[in-house]
Amino acid sequence: MCGIVGFVGEEHAKERIVEGLKRLEYRGYDSAGIALPIDGRIEIRKHVGELENLEKIIADPTFDAAAGIGHTRWATHGAPSDVNAHPHGNQDNSIAIVHNGIIENYQEIREWLSTEYGVRFKSDTDSEVIAHLIGIYYDGDLHKAMNKAVEDMKGAYAVCAIAAAEPDKIVAVRKDAPLVAGLGNGCNFIASDIPAMLKYIKEFYTIENNETVVLTKDDITIYNEKGEKVKRDVLHVSWDADAAEKEGYEHFMLKEIHEQPKGISETLLRRLDANGNVVLDGISMSKEDIEKLDRIYIVACGTAYHAGLVGKSIIEKLVKVPVEVDVASEFRYRDPFVDDRTLFIAISQSGETQDTLQSLREAKAKGARILSVVNVVGSSVARESDDVFYTWAGPEIAVASTKAYTTQLICMYLIAMYMGRTRGTLSQEDHDRLLGELKALPEKVEQIFQSEEKLAYLAKKYQYKEHIFFIGRGMDAGVAYEGSLKLKEISYIHSFAIAAGELKHGTIALMDPTVLVIALATQDGKIGEDSLYDKMVSNIVEVTSRGARVIALVKDGMEKVEQISDEVIYIPRCADEVAPVLSVIPLQIFAYYVAKERGENIDKPRNLAKSVTVE
Ligand code: G6P
Repeated sequence: MCGIVGFVGEEHAKERIVEGLKRLEYRGYDSAGIALPIDGRIEIRKHVGELENLEKIIADPTFDAAAGIGHTRWATHGAPSDVNAHPHGNQDNSIAIVHNGIIENYQEIREWLSTEYGVRFKSDTDSEVIAHLIGIYYDGDLHKAMNKAVEDMKGAYAVCAIAAAEPDKIVAVRKDAPLVAGLGNGCNFIASDIPAMLKYIKEFYTIENNETVVLTKDDITIYNEKGEKVKRDVLHVSWDADAAEKEGYEHFMLKEIHEQPKGISETLLRRLDANGNVVLDGISMSKEDIEKLDRIYIVACGTAYHAGLVGKSIIEKLVKVPVEVDVASEFRYRDPFVDDRTLFIAISQSGETQDTLQSLREAKAKGARILSVVNVVGSSVARESDDVFYTWAGPEIAVASTKAYTTQLICMYLIAMYMGRTRGTLSQEDHDRLLGELKALPEKVEQIFQSEEKLAYLAKKYQYKEHIFFIGRGMDAGVAYEGSLKLKEISYIHSFAIAAGELKHGTIALMDPTVLVIALATQDGKIGEDSLYDKMVSNIVEVTSRGARVIALVKDGMEKVEQISDEVIYIPRCADEVAPVLSVIPLQIFAYYVAKERGENIDKPRNLAKSVTVE
């Protein structure tokens, strides 16, 4: 999510702004920039990628001022690039702005500005229009020009602006996007959130919707929508900056685990129309394109690959097309059968994973249609795909992926449901039933959080196990892989996942009293001979009879499993198809607490990277 920092004082604006931007890194970003009024003009420097890139191009000491604005961008409109990074200037760079939010009517404004004023746009962003609007209304009073510009803007925004002709002033406005003013001594700040300023100050003014703020080094004046001055109480803060970024959670991973209900709802609701039907907005696959498909490949790495395993089950079930799932590093070298009747689905949180990207190129060259499921807007995978199905997880900071995975699963369901309806393989009734199940998930995930204490207790109890096996059948098998990965990547305990029915073909040789088995047995929809649940019960008995300890993971109401297991974790009742979204949550929490008990570096585990951009 974008981050804004503004500073006005007597000197050293650059250092203050960069420090603030560093403090906003936790929000996730793809580019950063800074604008300073220097010698009667505004100088803007910005760079795609890490803040370090920006720091290199602003290192020279002549690039500094008494005031300035900075920004970290998380792309929504326009790919991450130097030109799309903020700040944006007006035509002659006498005004610069940074913006957080979305200007919904930016296209209209763009057209109007170019026909009426001959404005030429430098970027693909919605934000740039703000700089030009302020520019055309500016007559020496930045506050007045900002107020005029706001009248034209629809959407959500926090905007900070500076003008070359008023170098000792910042004007900001807020509507449905966060903004806080910071009260210094002989200097003042403005930022998207408090952590950006905590190094320097502890006193703040919150800014409410539709308020504008004028900051000079000595004053912060807040105005309401009618232009009247507002008196605001000072907020004293005693937090430490690190805690503030994590919103009180000890680690980003735990924060992100808890953000899953929101991520799931966002990903779901953005794809439903008023009648509750799945809409593939912005996705150009026609009915014919969907009907002609005879094979689907899902290709990804790591956690995203595990989302693909669940995706395969659900797509085959609802769409009745054969689906192959492959890890990207294998797919790209195995000369797969791909032609123009193939749909290639790439799943990637970052959209930058090299193997996934190369596989995509391979499939594209052979004529496949490319649909990607990506979290980072404008990333390479997104740019090179025919269609992009975004997850709306928000930035994920912890290396161990959690909310990206559950939102990827939601995309898998939506894609399967849409294609199933289009191809006539999914009845309206089943579609609606499944949709009801999906909509109930955020609330059910919240319910699982009530077991957090118990999971922490189990983590403490089993933290010294040297080998932990995850087993499951059907959709549970896919989740077993993800649970195992979560555990090993942050706790460094050896763990291994296997389809439960495959145990007896080798792995059962390892079962003894030193081993812990986590048995997923959520698939209880079918009763009788074919019941996966009954088969799992047999598998649990197989391992306990060899001395292994078992933690079973089942739905509420399956208490019988307590008789054959050492421990039982319950998830709320749900249809078997959507159980993966719920069953992974206790596994994430368990992994988190095991790693915490063992004192590991949870957010940045050894040897791992968030985004693997090398082969
Ligand atoms: C790395 C990360 C994993 C992630 C995988 C794929 O290994 O540590 O958490 O699942 O890459 O990343 P992607 O961004 O393509 O989903």
